[in-house]
Amino acid sequence: MLSELLYISFRNSSCTSEEVEKILKQSIQNNGKKNITGVLLYSKVQFLQVLEGDNEQIVTLYDKIKTDSRHDKALMLSLKPIKERFFPSWQMAGKEMDSGYQFLSTLQEEEKKEFQQILEGETNSNAVKIISRLFND
Ligand SMILES: Cc1cc2nc3c(=O)[nH]c(=O)nc-3n(C[C@H](O)[C@H](O)[C@H](O)COP(=O)(O)O)c2cc1C
Repeated sequence: MLSELLYISFRNSSCTSEEVEKILKQSIQNNGKKNITGVLLYSKVQFLQVLEGDNEQIVTLYDKIKTDSRHDKALMLSLKPIKERFFPSWQMAGKEMDSGYQFLSTLQEEEKKEFQQILEGETNSNAVKIISRLFND
């Protein structure tokens, strides 16, 4: 069953930009083999990741990611079946968000508010749609 999983977590101070580069490289390699796609947004203090793929595969991956010492307090915001992927061509795309979330300029005011709420751990059924706008613009 094709599913989508969304979580947020807190980036540990020991997780340097080089480490984030490593995470992205490794993710692209590993996810390609499992037909997993998605995106990773990161700021100095937070991660937000969307994983798409076979339900069992992404849950297994999430269980592994959760234990990674480069972040902690992973909080799953949603896991649900989907008909099609939002990010079919990305094994794992990365995008940095600065503390002012300047890239959010592509979002409408209402979406910006919703996005901030997602980062604070509130679930929103439009979450992945909003996130996808940041990558597809
Ligand atoms: C925020 C974050 C996101 C990650 N995302 C992925 C991912 O999408 N795919 C992946 O294989 N590993 C991901 N990792 C890395 C895993 O936790 C783990 O280090 C890696 O999968 C181990 O790969 P290996 O089994 O090939 O050694 C992520 C780690 C962090 C901290």
